[in-house]
Amino acid sequence: MEPLLVYFSSKSLNTHRFVLSLDMRSVRIPISMKEEMPAITEPYVLICPTYADDDGSKAVPKQVIRFLNDPRNRELMQGVIASGNRNFGDLFAYSGAVISKKCKVPCLYKFELSGTLEDIKNVKQGMRKLWESLKQTKQQHLMAV
Ligand SMILES: Cc1cc2nc3c(=O)[nH]c(=O)nc-3n(C[C@H](O)[C@H](O)[C@H](O)COP(=O)(O)O)c2cc1C
Repeated sequence: MEPLLVYFSSKSLNTHRFVLSLDMRSVRIPISMKEEMPAITEPYVLICPTYADDDGSKAVPKQVIRFLNDPRNRELMQGVIASGNRNFGDLFAYSGAVISKKCKVPCLYKFELSGTLEDIKNVKQGMRKLWESLKQTKQQHLMAV
């Protein structure tokens, strides 16, 4: 199975542009809360921008919270990649820390806005490595049966 990304991006589309540059399989969490959530049935990495208030609350967009309220979606999440803007100082990409803590998954990477060429290279490489290790773990489980 090829790596899979699930991501949220608001109307400013920074995260969407980053995901397009990665050229990987991806599913977008809808902006409209009325739209049906996509059904995820395989391991994935979440990419989430940050929309925090000054006190750090509301860092994770409500659409992402709704997606993660489904236990199946939490179970399949291998890690989170967070984005933001460095102008926000300590709260830069803070959604990553919140999701990592709440869902007990690693925060794998942080990038700014639509990312740089270096970010694209790093995330592609990281995703390939992660999927390779997932494949190996699966094989080891099968051999142990
Ligand atoms: C109201 C608002 C609050 C934001 N809060 C944060 C923040 O706390 N930390 C951060 O790193 N970026 C923050 N950002 C920047 C966004 O995370 C950044 O622009 C991101 O790339 C948006 O992704 P999107 O265009 O895919 O929705 C904020 C942006 C807005 C408009």
